[in-house]
Amino acid sequence: MTGQVSALDLAAGLGHGRSVSAETPNAFARRLDVVTAAVEAQLMSLLTDTPLPDEITRPARLLSAMRYATTGGKRLRPFLVVESAALFGVPEKLALFLGMAFELVHCYSLVHDDLPPMDDDDLRRGHPTVHRAFDEATAILAGDALLTLAFDLLANEAVHPDASVRVSLVSLLSRASGLGGMAGGQMLDLEAEGRFSTDHRPLSLSPAEIERIQSMKTGAILTAACEAGAILGQATPAHRQALHRYGRAFGFAFQISDDLIDAEGDEKTVGKHVGKDATRGKATLVSQLGIAEARKQLSTLIVEAEAALSPFDTKAAMLISAARFLATRNR
Ligand code: IPE
Ligand code: IPE
Ligand code: MG
Ligand code: MG
Ligand code: MG
Repeated sequence: MTGQVSALDLAAGLGHGRSVSAETPNAFARRLDVVTAAVEAQLMSLLTDTPLPDEITRPARLLSAMRYATTGGKRLRPFLVVESAALFGVPEKLALFLGMAFELVHCYSLVHDDLPPMDDDDLRRGHPTVHRAFDEATAILAGDALLTLAFDLLANEAVHPDASVRVSLVSLLSRASGLGGMAGGQMLDLEAEGRFSTDHRPLSLSPAEIERIQSMKTGAILTAACEAGAILGQATPAHRQALHRYGRAFGFAFQISDDLIDAEGDEKTVGKHVGKDATRGKATLVSQLGIAEARKQLSTLIVEAEAALSPFDTKAAMLISAARFLATRNR
């Protein structure tokens, strides 16, 4: 894993002075840009042609699909890890390494989400989806290899010298990604379309049932990204709980904003097709309650997310800005 450790040095430019006052949206955008650049540097280092000592070779087609699958994206999950960990004084380049594991799982989830038997999408981040640019088998394998690479990173001492901390992180990310988390939520999302019922009609779900689907398929990984910072910083249970509450509100708000963008967004700006949730009968708060009510819920969740950060006072200004960004984002 020497390539990865050297990537930490590449990311050394990540350091920034912590502000004690409320951050402006521009400060948030600049900070996200810095994390994005660091993530990109790490990706270059992780996805090199040179096999690691335990590997025989790195098949060029698979490697190329993995690079393609990890290109672009807002990098919000590593941002949440880095900013949550910063609350506890964790060196940013270490938190970034952990954030990469979350980004890899996220990228894998998108590749599989876009496959024909899932959402059947051909546009992602402004480009053809992985199975369109390559082929379905390669896309499945690229997803598999990104997911497993994420856990390889978590096993690395560069994440934290204490193995018990690393094991907690493995447990956190695997639960957030698996049966009771993202993968389980994706199952419920497809079921809600009605594709496994005899009449193939979308299920009629209550707002609480929709919230459960969304908090699993999208919220679980976002919540875990916030908690991961607390674990890395060996935070008190109360502080971890506060970040958990923030992450839950953030996660649900994030999916509502994704659904609003699908309903109202502009394809060129979004980088993915819009209007597809309605066509497929996806269970969203937008389809259930309408745009105005969904927007109201989004605002309420942002207030909830901010309130959860009160134990951190002004130190959490950047996380507050991240939550506010969800109300205005258009991609
Ligand atoms: C999109 O996530 C998929 C969902 C989980 C709703 P993002 O909007 O974070 O996707 P990228 O990484 O920025 O492309
Ligand atoms: C996807 O939700 C959530 C994942 C776990 C990938 P969506 O299906 O709404 O995401 P987009 O709109 O395709 O990015
Ligand atoms: Mg989907
Ligand atoms: Mg989709
Ligand atoms: Mg969507």
